[in-house]
Order: sequence, then structure tokens, then C-alpha cells
Amino acid sequence: MSDNTKKLQEKIALAHLGGGQQRIDKQHEKKKLTARERVEYLMDEGSFEEIGILVTHRTTDFGMEKEKYYGDGVVTGYGTINGRPVCVFAQDFTVFGGALSETHAEKICKTMDLAVKLGVPMIGLNDSGGARIQEGVRSLGGYADIFYRNVQASGVIPQLSAIMGPCAGGAVYSPAMTDFTLMVQDTSYMFVTGPNVVKTVTNENVTSEELGGASTHATKSGVTHVTSVSDIACLEDVKKLLSFLPQNNKETTAKLPFTAEEEYSDELESIVPDSSNKPYDMHAVIKGIIDTDSFFEIHKDYAQNIIVGFARLGGRSIGIVANQPMSLAGVLDVDASKKAARFTRFCDCFNIPLLVLVDVPGFLPGTDQEWNGIILHGAKLLYALSEATVPRVTLITRKAYGGAYDVMNSKHIGADFNYAWPTAEIAVMGAKGASEIIFRKEIQQADDPEAKLKEKETEYAEKFATPFEAAQRGFIDEVIMPRDTRRKLLKAFSLLESKTVNRPDRKHGNIPL
Ligand code: COA
Repeated sequence: MSDNTKKLQEKIALAHLGGGQQRIDKQHEKKKLTARERVEYLMDEGSFEEIGILVTHRTTDFGMEKEKYYGDGVVTGYGTINGRPVCVFAQDFTVFGGALSETHAEKICKTMDLAVKLGVPMIGLNDSGGARIQEGVRSLGGYADIFYRNVQASGVIPQLSAIMGPCAGGAVYSPAMTDFTLMVQDTSYMFVTGPNVVKTVTNENVTSEELGGASTHATKSGVTHVTSVSDIACLEDVKKLLSFLPQNNKETTAKLPFTAEEEYSDELESIVPDSSNKPYDMHAVIKGIIDTDSFFEIHKDYAQNIIVGFARLGGRSIGIVANQPMSLAGVLDVDASKKAARFTRFCDCFNIPLLVLVDVPGFLPGTDQEWNGIILHGAKLLYALSEATVPRVTLITRKAYGGAYDVMNSKHIGADFNYAWPTAEIAVMGAKGASEIIFRKEIQQADDPEAKLKEKETEYAEKFATPFEAAQRGFIDEVIMPRDTRRKLLKAFSLLESKTVNRPDRKHGNIPL
């Protein structure tokens, strides 16, 4: 064996040890896998090829020249997931706590550039103490180089971020600019400033978990899209999510084999209750339409009055946006609008057709909503759907009231097919509210105002609390029986595969942010 061959073997063995066995043991004690174990699990067996394993940092300050680790705290490279090429980086917490140095950042940037050149998804596994403190501004520059690339790659290749440990300070902005952020429960957290700074500045006492743990970001802030119970579950979720996405913005997702017993689903007939005010679970409608067990929900615990997620219909990926009558009666509020708008734009970037299921009583009234800008946030969803050029199909199951009717993928804003069930109520508002306004005088002057209100309510409901007026005008293409929904949607989406839309040239639109 030549000297250099021996040296190479030694270097590679050292690189595989990261920050050393003791630190690896510590990582395992925290129920965390190491960077290499994560990459191995994520990729198809034997497919991972590492790039830059011999890179070390160049810092000489603070005696750093004596402490060098091959790879410099990040494993980078490419491989396949379910046969599809992807690029990946995984921060190694055993080396300087995964902190980002100039060279660490260069490795990530090189991998991102490769992903864009190849047109393949970029996956980041984050586990880092943030900027490498010994490197000062060089490290900050490294972050900015990554952020810049995140933005250039946005809408070109899917970018997924798994947060599998700390992610604090400037480090949070790379995941925030990627398409999806997944967090591991109990072992990951994200915040701009940690609990100590918070205590100093605002005098709040808060733990890391409360401030930026997975459950906080899953329920309160919406920063994370998916929460996983362990490292392994998180990596499985990454693979599952990836299965719904194309490689890049020029491709569509492959048609996968699917199982679905019937084109007709009788269970859909009995979901909408007789009483218009009774809630029901929109998940049941989704289940009755899509290929068996194919729903992957995004933002499951955030703004639950709207459901968004990926599913397969006839083996092809679709994105679903659906009001959820079980939560706040399915009303549109600030958070629901933002959630649905972002998801819609992702689908449109990556050629994923959209199915919009509507049961919406309107926008949520109140000072809280108005002062928090429901006008602007609601407009985001309206804008996102109006600009989407992917195939767009709408089904109104029950209420489609007021401005929310327009917003929820109405015919007027460019939906391709608009269906309604016979239970649909397409109107400016509910029959009671409408009657109280337009027949107020008549009701006040009646001998029995209550009976009069009921009479007027019935009159209004017969005229407008149906899908028929909208169907007469062509705003609804067809009123369909619930059991026939899957068949209709299969045909509609199949036809729409060849849809093309040409828009006038412009730099970009100006979505109300
Ligand atoms: N730069 C350089 N080294 C860092 C680092 C950073 N930003 N963050 C952590 N490290 C090193 C630690 O010195 C330690 O080194 P050692 O193994 O030689 O002892 C190792 O990483 C692990 O850190 P430790 O503090 O023991 O781990 P922990 O799990 O108890 O805590 C953090 C993790 C992230 C909470 C903690 O390390 C921390 O607060 N880091 C600084 C975060 C920060 O302010 N970053 C800069 C702003 S973006």
C-alpha cells in the first residue's frame, strides 16, 4: 500500500469519526442520529456519494489551527431516494456543535449549486449551534451565501429542510426560505434569539421548547410544516413528502401505481349533515375522493380551519386545499389564508394540480382579524389562486358565502372545472342573516316578526341556498352526486394534463405580502 493510499484511508476513517466517539455517544444519548447515520438512512442503500470529505476549516484565530476535523461539521453529497437523484447536506453536531464556518458554508453552497444544475431536489438536515463563533463575519457571510442560493433555487427545485437539533439565530432563515420545514419533536428547536436574550430584552421566562420547539412551531407560528416523533420518523416523512414532488419546475410527478376499490364512493353521500350548521370532517370527503391512504397533510396542527396537503388521484400527485367545517366552521382567517396561499404557490411552482374543496361561511369578523390584516392576508390566497396556472378544480360541498366564494377557486378567478354537490349553498351570506337585512322593515312591521323571519328565510334559502342559481349562470359547470365525485375528478384532472396557459411577460407580480 502506498503512503498516500494509507494516508487517505486514515483521513477517511477520521472523517467518519466526526468530532470523536465521545461526542457521537452524547448525540446518541440525546436520541439523535449522527449526520452520517441520517444520510445513510435517508438515501437508497449504497447510493450516497460524499463530496468534500477532506475539507477542513482555514481559521487560525483562537488556536483553531490545532483543532481541525475532516468534513468541517457537514456531510454533503448526492444519492438517490426511491431511485430519484437528490442532493443533501447534513450538519454534524459532533464537530463544533455543527456550527457553520466559511468552509462549512462553501460545502453547502457547492451542493446547492449542483442540485440546481442537475435539476434535483435539495435536502438539508440541520443540527447546528449556528454561526461558528470563532470565525465571526466569515461565518455570517457563509449564511448569506446560502440564503442567496435558497432564493435563486426557489421555484426551480424543491428544497426541504429537516430540523433535527438546534437551529438558532441567522441559521433559521435558510429553512424559512425553503419549501418545507420538518421538525423532530423534543430534540429540535428554532428561534431567532434564545431564552436568555428573550429574558434580557422582554423579561419573559420561557424554555427553548416553549419558545421554538416543534409543537410551538406546528401550532402557534406555522414555521414548521410537518412534525415527526423521532429522527427516523422525520427521515421517513422527508421521503414521503418527496414522493409527491417532481424533480424540478420543468417536470411533473411520475404516475405511480395506485389502489382504489371503486370509482364511485357511496360513503360520500352521507357526509354532509341535514342541518346546515352542523359540522362534519372534511377529511372524510378527501378520503372518499383520493387513492387509498394517499393523503399527506401539511401544517396539520396549524390553522386547522383549512386543510392542505398532497394526495394521489389516479396515481398522480395533486395538492388539496379544503375548508374544514369541524374547526371554526371552516371560516377563512389570517392564518388559514396564509397557510393555503403558500401551499397553493408551492403547487403552482412545481406543476402539481390543485383540488379545492369548499365549505366556507366567509371571512372571520372582528377587530383581532381586521387589525392583523385579514384584508391583506385574505388577498394572498385570492392572488395565489388567481395566478396559478396548474390545473385547478373546485368542488363546493356546502357553503360558499360572500367574498370567500370568490376566493376559494371560483370560476371567475380561473378555475378549470367547478363542481357542486346538491347540498351546496352559494350565496352572499346565510339565509337568516340575509333576510334580517333585506326584509328588516317587513319583519319589524309583521304581527309575528319571528314567523315572518322564518318565512323570509325559507324564501331566500330556496332562491340562493342552493347550487342552482350559480349553475344556471355557468359559474358552476355541473352539479354532481357525491358518489360520482371521484370519477368526475379523475376525468377532469386527466383531461387537464395538457393544459397550458400563456401569461404576458413581466418581471414578477406583486403579491400582497
Ligand atoms: N460556534 C462554535 N462552536 C460551537 C457553537 C458555535 N456557534 N455552538 C456550539 N459549539 C460547540 C461547543 O463549544 C461544544 O464544543 P465541545 O464539544 O468542544 O465542548 C459543542 O459545540 C457542543 O455544544 P454544547 O454547548 O456542549 O451543546 P449543547 O447541546 O449543550 O448546547 C447549543 C447546544 C446550540 C444550545 C449551545 O452550544 C449554544 O448555545 N451555542 C451557541 C449558539 C449561538 O449563540 N450561536 C451563534 C449565533 S447564530
